[in-house]
Amino acid sequence: VGRVLRALDFCREHFARVIQAGDVAVDATCGNGKDTLFLAECVGPGGKVFAFDIQEAAIRNTHDLIKEKGFLDRVSLHQENHENILHIVDVPVKAAMFNLGYLPGGDHGVITKPDTTIKALEGLFTLLLPGGLVSVIAYTGHPRGEEEKKLVQGFLEEVEQRQFSVLHYRFVNQINHPPQLFLIEKIF
Ligand SMILES: C[S@@+](CC[C@H](N)C(=O)[O-])C[C@H]1O[C@@H](n2cnc3c(N)ncnc32)[C@H](O)[C@@H]1O
Repeated sequence: VGRVLRALDFCREHFARVIQAGDVAVDATCGNGKDTLFLAECVGPGGKVFAFDIQEAAIRNTHDLIKEKGFLDRVSLHQENHENILHIVDVPVKAAMFNLGYLPGGDHGVITKPDTTIKALEGLFTLLLPGGLVSVIAYTGHPRGEEEKKLVQGFLEEVEQRQFSVLHYRFVNQINHPPQLFLIEKIF
């Protein structure tokens, strides 16, 4: 196996360095809850994770995982479209994750969509603390995923560079379309 980190591991390594005990984090697409669990560990007992998903099954799976690990007190679950994030989160955020696409093991017809993803990103950027991070992991192995990646990338390429640094992390020679990462840092 190679030593170059896959997109999700590369992302987590940065998040683990940036998130401090007591911080607030957001999982914009909680799915089966693995990213919510990771964020809950990062923020510690005094921190908070707001987790969103539109699907009841995803909220249930995340709830069950977080309960099993004993972190329910620091996780706030919302069955809500992440485009409405500003209706629910009104505190400064240190880090937020968007893991795009469909619920693994769930309904492949329910997927994230470019317009709501971009609206949610715009909302989050207003909540993000200086030095804070937002990640977007995109799956380009299916046509709608490829389309969404293009539109999200187009949006991110226009983000004001004095306020945000945007990194695009991807393998360029792999035929199986591994996930791609966009990592956004708020500078001030
Ligand atoms: C790739 S999965 C997330 C995987 C998850 N982070 C994990 O660790 O298991 C994407 C999720 O986004 C959810 N989703 C799709 N559109 C959404 C929206 N507009 N707002 C919130 N969640 C959405 C889907 O229901 C699905 O569960």
